[in-house]
Amino acid sequence: MNNVIDFINTRRDRYLDELKALLAIPSISALPEHKGDVLRCAEWCANEMRRIGLENVRLFETPGHPVVYGDWLGAPGAPTILFYGHYDVQPVDPVDLWESPPFEATVRDGELYARGAADDKGQVFMHFKAIEAHMKQNGRLPVNMKLILEGEEEVGSANLDAFVRDHQSELAADVVVISDTGMFERGVPSITYGLRGLVYAQIDLRGTKSDLHSGSFGGAVANPAYVLAQILTQMKDRGGRIKIPGFYDDVRALREEEREAWKRLPFNEKKYKKDLGAPKLVGETGYSTLERTWARPTFEVNGLLSGFTGEGSKTVIPAVAMAKVSMRLVPDQDPDTIAKLFEEYVKKVAPRSVELKVTRMHGGKPWMTDFDNPYVQAAGRAIRTGFGQEPLFIREGGSIPVVATFQEILGLPSVLFGIGLPDENAHAPNEHLDLSNFYNGVLASAVLYQEIAGVTK
Ligand code: BES
Ligand code: ZN
Repeated sequence: MNNVIDFINTRRDRYLDELKALLAIPSISALPEHKGDVLRCAEWCANEMRRIGLENVRLFETPGHPVVYGDWLGAPGAPTILFYGHYDVQPVDPVDLWESPPFEATVRDGELYARGAADDKGQVFMHFKAIEAHMKQNGRLPVNMKLILEGEEEVGSANLDAFVRDHQSELAADVVVISDTGMFERGVPSITYGLRGLVYAQIDLRGTKSDLHSGSFGGAVANPAYVLAQILTQMKDRGGRIKIPGFYDDVRALREEEREAWKRLPFNEKKYKKDLGAPKLVGETGYSTLERTWARPTFEVNGLLSGFTGEGSKTVIPAVAMAKVSMRLVPDQDPDTIAKLFEEYVKKVAPRSVELKVTRMHGGKPWMTDFDNPYVQAAGRAIRTGFGQEPLFIREGGSIPVVATFQEILGLPSVLFGIGLPDENAHAPNEHLDLSNFYNGVLASAVLYQEIAGVTK
């Protein structure tokens, strides 16, 4: 292992140049005009995977963006890791808030700034470098490895479940490894043992055939913008509890030990509030901030559109109003069930004065694992070596829909070892990645494969 570690420690500058090349490709999966760039990024990853010694590297077409596959299966008898990551990124707008261009990775104060630096290209690349170090120094890996990289994670992974289902036997493995999560805070490496799920939907209201003069018609017809606001305010009570009937039926209660353990985490609510610039923290009564974000479901409005929003004023009754909304789910809520309950409730509370359309968009199941699983423990030891520090076991409020799919379809546990930091602006302007976490992460990943090799199947 020492030769692998030496290899990594002497190649930091080269790693940075290579990662900058990956980050230069604007692989924004949500925007059709970037389809070619997404493909170019898949090809970049495939070439890099061939270069570091992976075999059977190829792109699998899907109805959307391709899945990149590669493997190395030269360790008979040893465990097989199925590595998952994503090479697509979120859009960059508002682009004028970026201090350096989003696709020209720039180092400032030990942080690498670019779209995808943390989520998820930097973390995928960290594993490329760990694999490369083993292959270049030893000509082999201590474990078997299958890698799949997705190009649609940021748009809901619509085609990935089918891909996993159609390639069940090729994807057979012992454990899934994913680096697409974060550390609890700077200097506190973490293993994530729970993720929230998601239901996303759009509400469209129409009041009249066209916009109307608000003087001539105001008072006689419903205003869809106002009706939309009324509908939305019926989603939660004053205590922040969601009013959709049946919504909480399958919510697994927080265990007392978990609540106690979270109270001991180094979480500073005052600092959290200040860093966010929030005048006050709010949420469901009876739960702490960590409990609200990690273990309780939510209802959020993600976007609103209606009427006149330009400069100045316009006396108009808008014909239509639209809201994008989402619900984060926790074990054991089921996205299909929740989507149905939501739709029924919206239909019930919406007045007859408007036409209503509810369109369901993507979603994903929540996930949680026991952390006494031997692979999770192996990851704990690897982090100790790579970061020189004890890892924390945390849950995350975000979602990675495929993790539940891996459990259900392939019967595989997942190890979520991520190096993003909560203040690294994933999905926002000036996304960045701490380079010392990246270098430690390459070491920890290389050690992780070795540790997993030692787990008896
Ligand atoms: N890397 C995130 C998941 C994540 C978010 C992990 C926060 C840890 C903390 C991932 O790329 C992501 O953003 N997922 C989406 C999934 C959605 C589009 C189905 C999310 O959580 O919004
Ligand atoms: Zn991600």
